[in-house]
Amino acid sequence: MKFGFFDDANKEYVITSPKTPYPWINYLGTQDFFSLISNTAGGYSFYKDARLARITRYRYNNVPADAGGRYFYINDNGTVWNPGWSPVKTELDEYVCRHGMGYTVIKGKKNGLSAEVTFFVPQNFTGEVQKVVLKNESNEKKSFKLFSFVEWCLWDAQDDCSNFQRNFNTGEVEIEGSTIYHKTEYKERRNHFAFYTVNEPIDGFDTDRETFMGSIYNDFADPETVFSGEPKNSVADGWSPVASHFKKITLEAGETKTLVYVLGYVENPYEEKFNADGSMNKSRAYEMMKKFDTAEKADAALAELKETWDALLSKYTISSPDEKLNRQVNIWNQYQCMVTFNLSRSASYFESGIGRGMGFRDSNQDILGFVHQIPERARERILDIAATQLEDGGNYHQYQPLTKKGNDAAGTNFNDDPLWMILSTAAYIKETGDYGILNEMVDYKNDPALAQPLLDHLKRSFYHVVNNKGSHGLPLIGRADWNDCLNLNCFSRVPGESFQNTASNIAKEVDPETGAPLNEQTAESVMIAGMFTYIGPEYVELCRRMGDNAEADKAQAEIDKMKQAIIDYGWDGEWFLRAYDAYGKKVGSHENEEGKIFIEPQGFCIMSDIGGKEFTEKTMASIEKYLGTEHGLVLNNPAFTKYIVEYGEISTYPGGYKENAGIFCHNNAWIMCAAAYAGMGDVAFDYYTRIAPAYQEDEKLHRTEPYVYAQMIAGKDAKRFGEAKNSWLTGTAAWNFVAISQYILGVIPDYSGLKIDPSIPKAWDGYTVTRQFRGATFNIKVENPDHISKGIKSLTVDGKAVDGNIITDITGGVHEVVAVMG
Ligand code: GLC
Ligand code: GLC
Repeated sequence: MKFGFFDDANKEYVITSPKTPYPWINYLGTQDFFSLISNTAGGYSFYKDARLARITRYRYNNVPADAGGRYFYINDNGTVWNPGWSPVKTELDEYVCRHGMGYTVIKGKKNGLSAEVTFFVPQNFTGEVQKVVLKNESNEKKSFKLFSFVEWCLWDAQDDCSNFQRNFNTGEVEIEGSTIYHKTEYKERRNHFAFYTVNEPIDGFDTDRETFMGSIYNDFADPETVFSGEPKNSVADGWSPVASHFKKITLEAGETKTLVYVLGYVENPYEEKFNADGSMNKSRAYEMMKKFDTAEKADAALAELKETWDALLSKYTISSPDEKLNRQVNIWNQYQCMVTFNLSRSASYFESGIGRGMGFRDSNQDILGFVHQIPERARERILDIAATQLEDGGNYHQYQPLTKKGNDAAGTNFNDDPLWMILSTAAYIKETGDYGILNEMVDYKNDPALAQPLLDHLKRSFYHVVNNKGSHGLPLIGRADWNDCLNLNCFSRVPGESFQNTASNIAKEVDPETGAPLNEQTAESVMIAGMFTYIGPEYVELCRRMGDNAEADKAQAEIDKMKQAIIDYGWDGEWFLRAYDAYGKKVGSHENEEGKIFIEPQGFCIMSDIGGKEFTEKTMASIEKYLGTEHGLVLNNPAFTKYIVEYGEISTYPGGYKENAGIFCHNNAWIMCAAAYAGMGDVAFDYYTRIAPAYQEDEKLHRTEPYVYAQMIAGKDAKRFGEAKNSWLTGTAAWNFVAISQYILGVIPDYSGLKIDPSIPKAWDGYTVTRQFRGATFNIKVENPDHISKGIKSLTVDGKAVDGNIITDITGGVHEVVAVMG
């Protein structure tokens, strides 16, 4: 069942029913001001930090699910409706929501009146613009009333939803002309305020929520002010400040009226907070209002925004006979990569904006997905991340986006973390050729006194693995590796204790069989071992390119040692083992009762050529046999049914959800990459389409947005098999883009140039990829006359044959490339 369709020409997903299975959202803003907006105009806005500078209020996990947003209410002679259907939920004669690149258009029509609202955050602007177009499509003159509505958040979103004894007394607003200012706490320590304005005189307003609602028994669906058609001109005094403009409008038959609303955020330097007369300095707000005081100005800014997105998305485009593939690659996957880069894991409809900061491993992996779009920001991000590394090569697991400082509460010792930084830096250098980044001085522990060149950070990352090995010569897992929920040192018996942030219990444990005390030096991760043999060679290559062959040889010897350790202790016979637990017992082995096979180590080990063709073939067959489902590959099998104290959080989820045998879309991509690497192009693409949103047919079952990946789809053991959760902010975006754009379609940035190495379904005849790379544009035509999966028999650039499959002559301009498979 479908609730909309893709409009590829406009780069939009068009939702045709407001009653989607879950709120389907979009993101506005890519720089400092961000908004989340659902298909019924729910959501909220914030400045830079979804926790500390929340501008409008939103209530998570509410009933109904999506409560709070920027709402326009129309009272047309007693019939009250919203262009986005919700919250009043009056049946509309027409409804459509278009989610585009950084903008959303919601249009409703009722009784001959249509209202179309375009929401967007212009470039270089700290506010959301809402252009409202009202059209009388009937044959008679119409008079009606329009109310706008937002509810202010008292800045710190965590405090806002918990500290009511104070907050009900602090709300403060000011009304000046058509502008409602939110200035709670401005007179004391804050240097910022927000405003909501419209570019025409108004006929009334409200700023006190209870007055607007009419009583404490009303909700967003039946505000008394709107239903009575009379604003109260209320001025909030403590309690909950809101902003609602009131306008009486009359339109002749066929007449259109356009209004431009702006929801803005302003910061004043401390010394400039007040005017001489003690009033709030609003000059910056006035400047912002002037930028959007006409519809033409709003239209021009929207056009500019669209151009910005067209440019970002033009760095990699495919043209193929498969329109789903084209839209996935050209539009939605890259769009999601950019949103994920901007928001990390902070604010979505599943991430409340008050939880996590920036994850070290998450942000490094995000870089893989967007580095080609904005390499300058990737560079900056890598340096920020590296500064949170510790002197021993470990790192803070998370850092705060506002301060860029490591977060003590989330701690350290997630032993996969350091390796991801080698991978992201390598990706940046392959994209740009900028080896200069390796010489940048970067703090350790955010302490400038400890700064060293970035290359030294990578070295310490590499040796953090080498220096932290267990008895099988495999890497110690620490608190967890990529799988946050495989907590082999936690041994939590206390409800409410954090699985990931508690490593200390191990000291109290003894092995029940031997009575020996347990310690953190026992549990090992085959996944980190595989990551080390897959990512380590990038460090070796960087050393060589920086002229340090001795270090490169030394590092290579460590990689070879690790490969041998995986062969000796990490192979289970039909697949790679997952780990050794704190008792030294195998995890992810046919010897286990549950969790016999895990997905995570398999792809990295295959891509490190461990055990050659034999191991690869056996592993790929086991993956399909035990992990394969029509909705993607489950993480482990069989699912855990009991709590296993020595495994931790993974065994707490009901089977089929999250890390306990859910379909984690992030690590599905590693298997696509491995299959492509092994020349199994049909398998790689099959796995790709099982989870790629553009290929999902049953939107009702899948539930989350059909245009973006979700972190997780319920696995085969779950009652709700096939249902997705946690859409938008996930490493899935970046890794699936790597899988399709590089491993499958085979257009791969490499140190010495652009490598062409497709691994595709045999049935394909070919396709064309246009790739902007280091200042040049390559139109790459891949032809597959012999219908094979992998292998290039000839490569020409502008008609001239190239040896091998790497284009090394990267001079500006446009180049025609023909790659013939065979
Ligand atoms: C979440 C986390 C990520 C972790 C994954 C698996 O996506 O953000 O860091 O690797 O879950 O547990
Ligand atoms: C939970 C989630 C996991 C996520 C982690 C982040 O354990 O299950 O997916 O990575 O929290 O802290």
